[in-house]
Amino acid sequence: MNNDNPFSFLLPFPEVIPSRIDRHIKRHLSALKGQFFDTQAYDLLLSQQDQLIYEVYEIHRPEVAGELLLGISIVHPGKVGVEFFMTKGHFHTVLDTAEIYYVLKGEGFMVMETPEGNCAIEKLSPGRVLYVPPRWAHRSVCTSRQEDLVTFFAYPANAGHDYGTIEQRGFRKLILENKNGIEIIDNPNWLK
Ligand code: PA5
Ligand code: NI
Repeated sequence: MNNDNPFSFLLPFPEVIPSRIDRHIKRHLSALKGQFFDTQAYDLLLSQQDQLIYEVYEIHRPEVAGELLLGISIVHPGKVGVEFFMTKGHFHTVLDTAEIYYVLKGEGFMVMETPEGNCAIEKLSPGRVLYVPPRWAHRSVCTSRQEDLVTFFAYPANAGHDYGTIEQRGFRKLILENKNGIEIIDNPNWLK
């Protein structure tokens, strides 16, 4: 396909699988080692099955300034202990790049933080648009019991993904379910 030609594709409801897919990424439980705070629950679950936690359908563009990368992110429902399934989360390698999300299906939260320690959590529900400003790391968390959290995203194609920072120290906030419902707590394992 000529990269300079406009294109369109469909996101047909209710499945919202794009009619054009250049890359399908599947991340299983083993890819999130060290991210769930209850390591015993994590090890037990992993010993039973390396479950599929989330998937991304990407539409490819050249990874250069001026282009946008876009796609669909699908976080499946479930928990590790009391902590909801979530994406790895990342800063953009080019920190000064933003991202937008449009929620197509499901319920959840976007957990965000800056390198300086500012934290923000935004509710995700169908029809909501989320703007993640430059410098904010972001992680999607699915809090539905049975439904996938499905979002459309777009970000500058030169942004890149810095997963290492979050892999090493985690996010400062965690989303759990306790007897009273959904709870946001400070991550007891967060490494300064
Ligand atoms: O670009 C984004 O931020 C999203 O498309 C994510 O890549 C997607 O939700 C998967 O999360 P992660 O890249 O943290 O594994
Ligand atoms: Ni991103």
